[in-house]
Amino acid sequence: MKAVIFDLDGVITDTAEYHFLAWKRIAEQLHIPFDRSFNESLKGIGRQQSLDNILTRGGAASTFTTAEKQALMRQKNQYYQKLIENLAPGDLLPGIGKLLSELKDEHIQIALASSSRNAPAILKRLGISGDFQAVVDPETIEKGKPAPDIFLTAAALLGVSPAECAAIEDAEAGISAIKSAGMFAVGVGDERSMHAADLIVSRTSQLSFHLLYSGWKRCRERQQTERS
Ligand code: G6P
Ligand code: MG
Repeated sequence: MKAVIFDLDGVITDTAEYHFLAWKRIAEQLHIPFDRSFNESLKGIGRQQSLDNILTRGGAASTFTTAEKQALMRQKNQYYQKLIENLAPGDLLPGIGKLLSELKDEHIQIALASSSRNAPAILKRLGISGDFQAVVDPETIEKGKPAPDIFLTAAALLGVSPAECAAIEDAEAGISAIKSAGMFAVGVGDERSMHAADLIVSRTSQLSFHLLYSGWKRCRERQQTERS
């Protein structure tokens, strides 16, 4: 294992909750039902696609002009930015700071593969920008999660092969993206939504270099046995 690629929202910090609250507010304005179970399907999905999915759910996919949709996305982002205004180093999810320093000690490269355009600002507020050797710009990625592109780009930026990477996600679309990229997939969340992951933890405090490395190694050995 040469690199670990992180998702941001819901893995490094609890901003997944803020995306939920901001979209919920937009959906309520539009009188479209919005709950946590529907929100699961939006995790990891970019801003434009998320709005399209919400509008489709409300049977309003063709009701809005492009300009109106842009205004709704801007508004959602304003609600979201208000919620993350006071984000600080203390808002790292439990165990993440320790994991980053273990990876550094083990000379494992670290990258970020988040679909969020707010990601660089969030890393800065959390005080961890310097820990990442690569941060993928989601605007340069044509196909978002569940397509593997963002994870493959992260590996390419680091100069490592996908098979040498473990990647951590809290979204179903993210786990699909990692698996399609041919990487070891670590899911943070419940067994049901993370069922496609190679390794599941219910909370970030359970993550460690040793857990990732031993899981990645077991998976590689199994794949090699299957091939021979
Ligand atoms: C991440 C989150 C999504 C969010 C997307 C875009 O993938 O999991 O909930 O919609 O990023 O975020 P942005 O900050 O660019 O609106
Ligand atoms: Mg996430």
